[in-house]
Amino acid sequence: MQRDWVSKLFVERSDLFMRLLNQRWSGTEKLVDGMTKVLDGFGIKAGHLLDLCCGNGRVSIYMAKKGFKAVGVDISRAFLEDAERKAREHGVSNLVTFLEGDIRKLEEVVKTRYSRPFDVLVNAWASLGFYEKEDDLSIFKQARQLSREGAILFVAETMHTEYLSIKFAPTSYTELDRFVILENRKYEPITSQAITSWIFYIKRGQDLELMDRVDSTHHVYSLSELSSLLLKAGWETVASYGDLSTLQPMSPLTYMNIVAKAV
Ligand SMILES: C[S@@+](CC[C@H](N)C(=O)[O-])C[C@H]1O[C@@H](n2cnc3c(N)ncnc32)[C@H](O)[C@@H]1O
Repeated sequence: MQRDWVSKLFVERSDLFMRLLNQRWSGTEKLVDGMTKVLDGFGIKAGHLLDLCCGNGRVSIYMAKKGFKAVGVDISRAFLEDAERKAREHGVSNLVTFLEGDIRKLEEVVKTRYSRPFDVLVNAWASLGFYEKEDDLSIFKQARQLSREGAILFVAETMHTEYLSIKFAPTSYTELDRFVILENRKYEPITSQAITSWIFYIKRGQDLELMDRVDSTHHVYSLSELSSLLLKAGWETVASYGDLSTLQPMSPLTYMNIVAKAV
């Protein structure tokens, strides 16, 4: 069953969340530069890339600009339509394919259109933990089934438990043109659930008018917990970074970026 909040935040109110997706584009070229440096170390200079929960396509499109052939899967048609538009603007339409579907049925969604094993896989910006842990295990197992031995998986720009236990921010806001997006957060350390109220406002003169509010819940992993889940799925963690664009090491105060190899 699809979680109500997933459907509301990414499908029904894709118009609102798209603003946050667009904001991430500015750092993507550097992110991809770092990813390609890591891939160089594994002798991968080009190949086929699968972008799990691709949103409006930033990683697929920038990797296509590096010469990779990319397939992005996402549940939100509006994000994928925007991704196709952006691929045309970046001149890489011939190198990217965007597929609408539920990531929990990854093999089914991808195999209808694509038969080659993938060389590189990406799951970027907090795109896991939306369902049960068994679902994440199944998603990474399916990703492994679709990959060649030695393929590289990046779990990139992801929150982790060490960070939340030290630097938990109960509230923050983002101002984007006429919009203000407030995030009120709670963290349940026993279950490792992060609960976020996303509150979207539009500026009207001096006032803020409420547009919508969505409460999301997702599981946050530690590096060791996610690495052992990945290993069960056939992915051995070979490196972790705090920032993929600078290849800075991971610490409790950085994002979690995992590089894993298909074994
Ligand atoms: C935080 S966004 C990250 C998007 C993209 N990876 C990026 O880095 O810009 C999470 C994405 O997961 C997608 N998503 C959530 N549940 C999904 C599901 N069951 N199947 C496919 N995509 C899903 C959403 O539509 C959204 O695009």
